[in-house]
Parts: sequence; C-alpha cells; structure tokens
Amino acid sequence: MDERYRRIKERLGVLGQEQVLRYWPALDEEGRQGLLDQLEAMDLEFIAAQRERAWPPVEAGAGSLEGFSPMPHIPLPSGPEEERAWERARRHGEELLADGALGVLVVAGGQGTRLGYPGAKGKYPVGPVSGRSLFQYHIEKMVAMERRYGRPLPFYVMTSPANHEETIAFFKQNSWFGKDPDTILCFPQRMLPVFDLRGQLLLESPARLSLSPDGHGGVLYALRKHQLLEDMRRRGIRHLFHFQVDNVLVRIADPAYMGFHEEIGAEMSARTVRKRDPWEKLGNIGRQNGICKVIEYSELPDEKKTACTAAGELLFGQGSIAIHLFSLDFLERLLRQKIELPYHIARKKMASVEEQGAELAAGGLNAVKFEQFIFDAFSFAERVLVLETGRRLEFSPIKNREGEDSPATARRDLSELFAGWLEACGIRPRRHADGSLAVPVAISPLYAMSAAELGAKISSGLDPEREILLEEPTGE
Ligand code: UD1
Repeated sequence: MDERYRRIKERLGVLGQEQVLRYWPALDEEGRQGLLDQLEAMDLEFIAAQRERAWPPVEAGAGSLEGFSPMPHIPLPSGPEEERAWERARRHGEELLADGALGVLVVAGGQGTRLGYPGAKGKYPVGPVSGRSLFQYHIEKMVAMERRYGRPLPFYVMTSPANHEETIAFFKQNSWFGKDPDTILCFPQRMLPVFDLRGQLLLESPARLSLSPDGHGGVLYALRKHQLLEDMRRRGIRHLFHFQVDNVLVRIADPAYMGFHEEIGAEMSARTVRKRDPWEKLGNIGRQNGICKVIEYSELPDEKKTACTAAGELLFGQGSIAIHLFSLDFLERLLRQKIELPYHIARKKMASVEEQGAELAAGGLNAVKFEQFIFDAFSFAERVLVLETGRRLEFSPIKNREGEDSPATARRDLSELFAGWLEACGIRPRRHADGSLAVPVAISPLYAMSAAELGAKISSGLDPEREILLEEPTGE
C-alpha cells in the first residue's frame, strides 16, 4: 500500500492535483484502498489535458456560425418518382438485413435527471395497457426483424457504471425478452473526473473522487476499450444503427434508411423530423466551409432559429432525432486515426466535500464536467446522408417528467400509432369529440410492426370501445 500511495502521490504531484490526498491521514484502510483504486483507474492524460486549459473554462459555444447553412436532406416522398426511389432503397436495405450486415447500438448510459426516474431509463414502463418497458419494445422490434430476415441483429448496449449491473439483471430477469443473449452485448461507458471551479479534482467525499459519465460521444472510447468493432467485424456487420434509449417509436433498422445510406456511400447518416416550432430542443444539422456539423438547439442563435426560406418555411426546419447510421469502415477509421471528439463543458451542481462545496459560484454550480457528443463525428465524415422521417412514425422521446416529451406523450403517441394501423384495417378505436383517442391501444412488436402485418392477422372480434392489447399468442 505504501508503495502504491507513493507512486500515486508522485503522479498527482506532476499534475498539480495532490490535494485529493488531503484526507489520507484520517481515512481507514477501506477508504484508502478505494481511493487508490479509483485514482489508479483514472485517465491521467485527460486530467493533464484539462490542466492546460484556462480556468474556469468557458462553457462550449458553437463558435462563429458565419456561413453555417442547413445540410441538404432527402425529404419524405411526395410523388411517384420519389416513392420509387424510397421503394428501391427499401429493397436494398432488406438485402442488407438478409445478409446480416447490420448491428444495432443504443446509448443508455444517461442519468435521466430531467425525468427523475430512479432506475435505468430503459426500464421505464411506458407501454399503454401492457406496461412494456422501453427496453422490451426495442428488443422485441429486433426479434421481429430477426424472424423476418432470418439473421441475427447483434445489439450493443452502452450503459454507465451506475446502471450496468442493473441493466443486465433486468435483461436476465426477463429472459432477454426472447432475444438470443449471445447477440446482446452490454458495455459501460467511461467515467471522467469532475473539477471544481479552480481546476482541482472534486472530491465527493474524503475517500472518493466525484465522477461523471463522458457523454454519449464516449461511445467511441468505449467501443475501442471493449474491442467491439472487432466483434462487429467478426459477425459480418458493415453498418451500425445508433439510437437513444428514450425514443420509444424508433424504427430500428428501417430498411429504406439503410438502403439510402449505402446507395450514396455515406460514412455517417442522420434522420430528421420537421420541427414542431423554431424552439424545439433538437440538434440542427448544417455545414460550414464544406464541413458537416450539428449545432445544438441551445447554441443556435434566435435569428437563425426563426429565419425562413423564400417559400416561408423555417430555414433550419429539420431537427436531428439522434438516429444515426455509421459504416463500420468509418468507425474503424476514427479509431485508427485516433480522432478524439471535442469535449463540451458544463457547469453542474455536484455533491462534494465541505470546503469544495463552499466554493459555490452563483447559482450553486460548483463543478465543471466534460462530455463528448456523438454527432461531432459528422465533421470527420466524408459523405453524409440526412433523411427525413415522419415524427408520428418514429420520434417520441421521454425526456421530461411531464408536458412535452414525457411518459404521457410517449404513451399517447404509441396508442396513436397502433390506432392508425387498426384504422387502416377497418377497426376504429373509440375517440373523443376532439379526435383524441378515448381508449389506449397497444400492439406487441412480435404481433405486428405495421398496418400490413396487422391486416394479415387481425380477427374481427375486437371491441373498439375498450382498451386494446394485441400480444403474440403464447401457444398455450
Ligand atoms: C439529444 C441531442 C439532440 C437531439 C435529441 C433528440 C445531445 C447533446 N443532444 O438531446 O441533438 O435532437 O437528443 O432526442 O445529445 N447518454 C449516454 N451517456 C451520457 C449521456 C447521455 O448514454 O453520458 C444517452 C442517454 O441515455 C440518452 C441519450 O444519450 O439515451 C441522450 O441524452 P440526453 O442528455 O437526454 O440528450 P438531449 O439533451 O435530450
């Protein structure tokens, strides 16, 4: 122990961070072990790089947005010619699926602070009638695709150390929701140290550093650390479908999306929806000096948010819904070239030992944390596809406890999607006078994934006056 302590102290000294050992004399044996373990596992290069910064660092701004203009996108089809192009892309995507060329990645390491749900967000029971969790919806969609195309869809789940074990236990308890466990790979993202406003590592308690997840862009670091690109190559994967765990409507491995992505030879792709209004909290995909980049809603100035085209449409009318496709070649290139995504800085209020807590700045923010965003990878892609999708078909995230983008709106949107399929089959669930649904509707992805699939199975005995739940028959 003495030798370990001496070595760590020396390394911290070089970094000007010896102060994290200030409680050492008062710590018991267990506390000392824990602190040394934590310090030894720390990314010292990262800490050293932060020491180079001016403190307190400026929160990430987008920099100059001069010349930043929207990225051209493929809109939803509006005529026979476009319909044909989408149909061709869909067939191409289906070939990729039948070829087993696709893997699926979800980022599920977030802390869900705004939602205030205590567990892993993927466990949230969002399903109308059935109480299905987000994870169950996502995995059952994949199982349905596997059955349809006869090939496994390997599923990579990025967790964080805070919810990793909990996530795996949830999958096990639920028998992996019917998916072959060899095709579900959970891996935790990296935790980064947090600093106080003077640039000193923050202590959460005398024997523990304060840590925070490295952002969803940390997926690149985690994929390398856990050697998952090699795993993908071994499994014959050529493209990776990426989504966020909170979007219950995501159309996992949508063939048309993959078809377009491969047809144009994109290295990285994005799906967008038409924004509800200029203020919707979505990323904006544009380009500046020929380079593609995503500017967060919080960083786009109001005059750009509200600017209109000659046709009276919002100039930045498309918002990113964080559904991306990566070609595996591109991901391998990013890692091979050791490309590091920029760090975005956020000031936070974090638990800390007393005298660092007393450092509170205005607003009670005592900590500086660093996060990477996956969409910053667009700047490194040589070819990019932006493909519009319909909000009702594909986007209803759970971000807030109530109001927009909450469990209530996700439940409503699921019921509406399923009711739309039923209506296409001639069954009309009861609606209120204002057109909203009066009864909840739920259809398992294993029962049907579209109106056409539903039409082939549905019986006429459904009572549209009452709640509707269609599950796959259990065979009992
Ligand atoms: C995000 C996007 C925004 C996009 C919107 C679509 C950012 C900064 N913004 O906003 O451009 O339009 O989603 O819904 O991403 N996560 C991790 N590890 C982390 C942090 C987050 O895995 O360290 C995961 C979360 O579990 C979640 C996803 O990333 O699945 C999104 O994180 P969140 O912080 O909710 O992003 P938003 O601000 O909602």
